[in-house]
Amino acid sequence: MADETVCITVRPNGPLRVEGHIVLKDADGREWDLTGKPAISLCRCGLSEKRPFCDGAHARNNWLCETVPPGNLT
Ligand code: FES
Repeated sequence: MADETVCITVRPNGPLRVEGHIVLKDADGREWDLTGKPAISLCRCGLSEKRPFCDGAHARNNWLCETVPPGNLT
C-alpha cells in the first residue's frame, strides 16, 4: 500500500508547501490538473496572481508572517 500521507510545510514568510498525493478542488468540486506534480506551493499571503498557487509575490512584497506553532503541537 502506498504511503498516502500528505505533508504540509508552512514556509517562513512564504507559501504552504504541500507534498504527497494531492487533490486540489475549488468550492464547486472542479479539480486542478496536478498531473506530474509531486508537490505544490499554495499562496497564503493573498498577493499571488496565480492563486491558489504561490507565484513569488510574497517575497517581492516583503510579506512577513510568524510560522512557529504555539505550544507543543506535533
Ligand atoms: S505565498 Fe507566495 S505569493 Fe502568496
